[in-house]
Amino acid sequence: MRKDAVDRQKEVYVKGLGNVQPGIPASPERLEAKARECMSPRAFAYVAGGAGEEQTMLNNRSGFETWKIIPRMLKDVSERDISTTLFGQRYPSPFLLAPIGVLELAHKEAELAVAKAAKAHGVPMIFSNQASVAMEQVAEALGDTPRWFQLYWSKSDELVKSLVQRAENCGCTAIVVTLDTTLLGWRTRDIDLAYLPFLTGKGIAQYTSDPVFNKLVDEDENSSSALKPPVNWDTILNVLSLMRNYPGGFWSNLRSKRPLKAVAKFINIYSRPSLTWNDLKALRKMTRLPILLKGILHPDDARLAVQHGVDGLVVSNHGGRQVDGAISAIEALPAIVQEVDGKIPVLMDSGIRSGADTLKALALGARAVLLGRPYVYGLAINGASGVAEVLKNFTADFELNMALAGCRSVSEIGKHCLSR
Ligand code: GLV
Repeated sequence: MRKDAVDRQKEVYVKGLGNVQPGIPASPERLEAKARECMSPRAFAYVAGGAGEEQTMLNNRSGFETWKIIPRMLKDVSERDISTTLFGQRYPSPFLLAPIGVLELAHKEAELAVAKAAKAHGVPMIFSNQASVAMEQVAEALGDTPRWFQLYWSKSDELVKSLVQRAENCGCTAIVVTLDTTLLGWRTRDIDLAYLPFLTGKGIAQYTSDPVFNKLVDEDENSSSALKPPVNWDTILNVLSLMRNYPGGFWSNLRSKRPLKAVAKFINIYSRPSLTWNDLKALRKMTRLPILLKGILHPDDARLAVQHGVDGLVVSNHGGRQVDGAISAIEALPAIVQEVDGKIPVLMDSGIRSGADTLKALALGARAVLLGRPYVYGLAINGASGVAEVLKNFTADFELNMALAGCRSVSEIGKHCLSR
C-alpha cells in the first residue's frame, strides 16, 4: 500500500519522540544551505547558479507568489489519489525528476543513486544527455521504473540518432528535446570560478559510451589542439585526473590523449545553435516515441510546436540558467496552456520547490512538473537516501496541499483553486 502524506508525518514526528530529526531539511532554503556545506564551492556554484544577475531565478520564485491557493472546506478528502496519466502511462504522482547533468558534482554515485530513489518511489526519471553515468547502467538500476530521455541536439545527426536509439533500447518512453541551451548561458558564478565541469571530463558519459561519438573522436585527430590551458601545476593535476577517470585506463589514456580529444570533441558538437523548426522532421523520422519540446516560453512557439506535430511541451527557462531577466515559467504557463488548448500535454519546470508550487502549476494547466535542484541537494547531502527523503517530503507536501485545497485527486485541481 502507498505510504501517504499522513504516514510520512507520523514517521517523522514519532522519531521526534526519540529526539531524532530528519537529516534532510524539509524547507527548500535549509535544504540548499545544507547541500552547500556538502559540496565543493565549484560544484555548488555549478548546480545552484543561474545566468547573469540571476534575476530569472528570482522571477521563478516570485512568479509563484503572485498566485494564491484558496483552501476549500467540508470536501471529504479522506481518500486521496495523486496519480496521473501522461502519454497513456500511469504515474504515481504528477512530477518527474528533471534531467540534470553532471550529478557526480553532488555525489560519487550520481545518477545511480538517483535511480535507486526513483525506483523506490516509482517516480519517473528523465535521463540527462550530460549525465555522469551512461544511460544503459542507469536503466538497469531503475528496474521497471519509467524513464524518459533528454536530448541535446548535437551538430552530428548521426550522434543524435544513436542517442535516441540507445534511449529507446533503454526503455525510455519519451524524448525531451532541450531547445533553450543551443548556447550555454552567461553563468556568472561559473565564469568567476572559471569552471566548466565538462572540461575535466565530468558529465560526458552519454558521449564516451556512444559508438558514434567514439567514431567521431577517432576521425578528428586534431580536436584537442583547440584546448590550450596555461601550463602550470593545476593544469597538470586536472589533466592527470581526467586521464584517471576517463574510460580505458590511465596509462593508455595518457599515451593516446584520447580523453582530451573527447572533451574537445564534446565541446564542439554537443549542441547545434543553427537548429530551426524544420529540423524537427528529422527527429520525427528517428523515433516513434512522443517528442516533447523543453524551453518553450512564448505562446507563438507553443503554436508552432503544435503545428510541427510535437507531442508535448515543457514550459521552462532551464532553472534560470540561460537568459537573465527572463519571464518565469509559471508566468508563461497560462498563455501557453490557452494556446495549446488541450491538444498536447503541457508540463512545467523552473522554480518548483514545494507541493504548493506544484499545485499552482497544475491549477494553471500543467499536467505535471519537473523537480530539479532540490533532488540534487538531497543527493549531495546523503546520496540515494537523501534523494528518497526529498521525494517523500515533496510528495507528502503536494498531497496535503491538494487535499487542504479541497481536491481529492489531481483531476479535481483547476483554476478555481487559485486567486491572483
Ligand atoms: C546544462 O544543461 C546546464 O544547465 O548546466
